[in-house]
Amino acid sequence: MSEQILVIGSCGQLGTELVESLRNIYGNSNVIASDIRQSDDEVFKAGPFEELDILNKQQFTDVLNKYKPSQVYHLAALLSATAEAKPKLGWSLNMDGLFNVLDAAVDFKIGKVYWPSSIAVFGPSTPVNNTPQNCVMDPNTIYGISKLAGERYCEYYFQKRGVDVRSLRYPGLIGYKSEPGGGTTDYAVSIYHDALTSGKHNCFLGESTELPMLYMPDALKATLDIMHATAEQVKIRSSYNLAGMSFDPKEITASIQKYVPGFSTEYNPDHRQKIADSWPNSIDDSEAREDWGWKPAYDLDAMTQDMLKNLAPRYGKTLSL
Ligand code: SER
Repeated sequence: MSEQILVIGSCGQLGTELVESLRNIYGNSNVIASDIRQSDDEVFKAGPFEELDILNKQQFTDVLNKYKPSQVYHLAALLSATAEAKPKLGWSLNMDGLFNVLDAAVDFKIGKVYWPSSIAVFGPSTPVNNTPQNCVMDPNTIYGISKLAGERYCEYYFQKRGVDVRSLRYPGLIGYKSEPGGGTTDYAVSIYHDALTSGKHNCFLGESTELPMLYMPDALKATLDIMHATAEQVKIRSSYNLAGMSFDPKEITASIQKYVPGFSTEYNPDHRQKIADSWPNSIDDSEAREDWGWKPAYDLDAMTQDMLKNLAPRYGKTLSL
């Protein structure tokens, strides 16, 4: 039997696209998509799909026995804003879900595990500009605390239990194929849809709130690159800093205005402003570059052009890009 790859939480923003990329590499039938809910997305019809609640150990064991995966991508989590609204569920899904996956990696001898961390591991005392890999980390959201604890568990399971677990601290992820859900960086996705529909964006962050961001093709490349690197190349077993670009709402608005004249943004910061204020402006990802050759391809304008080019037909718009 060829190598089987299980993606947990595959109906989310990243999972939807990652399943597609993995199926292009490994073949449709070798990539098992799974999520707590079914999805109508076409991508899931191309190969196996399992309904899986990662907190249900019996269900997880059944899926592992059925497919005997050699790689598991564990993406199921509540993001920052949702976890603040549902702190108990945020903590238990983000932590117990990871424990179940790490324990299964030992029990079922899973070759490689991927687990995403986030810029949310940083906090108010962290240096905000060019944030280094190792520095003060005092996250003050449930999401950030769960990701930082998760990073420590990953390194522990690598050191003490021999689990080959790999991880990236994603910045905000921006893409046109799938919808984000419950994140503080999500405005940078909806702003493109608004530009092509109402022509106006109501931003839940202030105009100068700079955050690190990454375009989805780069995020997919980084994820596959770290998973395809040799075990020796992956020197950091907590989670790697990863950067693409940094901008604030004013700058992304200006980038869109180059192609959609008349587009405007109004700023009405809400509870998410505090979360954004506790996160870095920009990230130093030199370890990822040195250890396994990370290099992003997209800057803000290249991303804006690609987002608008791909979204315009959906809304019946023609733009000169
Ligand atoms: N994009 C995530 C969020 O905003 C950060 O990892 O919650």
